[in-house]
Amino acid sequence: MTVSRRQFGTAISAAALVAASGRPGWAQAPLVIKFSHVVAADTPKGKGSIKFKELAEQYTGGKVKIEVYQNSTLYKDKEEIEALQLGAVQLLAPSTAKFAPLGAKEFEALDLPFLFASDDQYAKVLGGDVGKYLFSKLEAKGLTGLGFWDNGFHMLTSNKPVLTPADVQGLKVRISGSKVADQYFRKLGAIPQILAFSEVYQSMQTGVVDAGENTASNILTQKFYEVQKHIMIARHAHLQYAVIANSKFWSALPPDIKSGLDKAMAEANDYTNQIARQENIDALAEMKKLGRNEFHELDEAQRKVWQTAMQPTYTWAESRVGKEVIDLLLKATAAG
Ligand code: LMR
Repeated sequence: MTVSRRQFGTAISAAALVAASGRPGWAQAPLVIKFSHVVAADTPKGKGSIKFKELAEQYTGGKVKIEVYQNSTLYKDKEEIEALQLGAVQLLAPSTAKFAPLGAKEFEALDLPFLFASDDQYAKVLGGDVGKYLFSKLEAKGLTGLGFWDNGFHMLTSNKPVLTPADVQGLKVRISGSKVADQYFRKLGAIPQILAFSEVYQSMQTGVVDAGENTASNILTQKFYEVQKHIMIARHAHLQYAVIANSKFWSALPPDIKSGLDKAMAEANDYTNQIARQENIDALAEMKKLGRNEFHELDEAQRKVWQTAMQPTYTWAESRVGKEVIDLLLKATAAG
């Protein structure tokens, strides 16, 4: 689906802004803000977007209506990005792996393997200078970063047991778009394939791909566990989102609306980041209960083998995402 300029005009017309600001001459039609994402409602991002909707509508006293489109029902991966640039959608929360088409390759550094030692460390690093640095990269691209939303560590699903790096050799592994992820799988002899999130289930079912990386909440709610026998608790990389808006739209909002939305977003950010960890613990427990998969845990020595095998990605990534962001990240993670 291609996003047309016509949709842009309709979505954020000046008339809608005036109507929402309550000036005379217009019926009090609420300003409609479209928030698109690709995952299910019952995930950290799904719940975060609903929380934002509830708070935003409350804090703006009905002047704004947030329409949340989940599960790729409005746009899917690449289309989402294009739609934001054209203004056909006003809010997105893509995984940071999908930021290169927006001109912000630096975000892909967050996909570096074994970068974060723990959930706490991830939260601390993104809440500090690294988060600010990344958002500053969006400004020149006409985008405003409104928050980072956590979704925890990746697991590796596959149609055959995978325990060592050698086990992924020759496997077609679905990735979501990051060149860093492409590289760490390629270095192991796997064949990474970029596919839209909405196409993953069928591709796994029909053998177009043999494996994939994702978090427990996504594997459960997209039912990938039905079409992948094995799940390795790899924790080899981290999945997070950045909530972003088209800057022209966001900065043109009437001040009362803007402050209501800012407050709603700040609270939705906290809420999402608080629930993410437990959502993934619950999702993993649910899949274990369903009993369809073989789960493979890695001990510390096995994890070390994966880390060593994927380590060359760091040197490679310097020319892709820039040394500056990698240095910033390594400094922040070294600090604890
Ligand atoms: C994926 O494409 O696998 C994920 O990034 C989807 C998402 O937004 O969690």
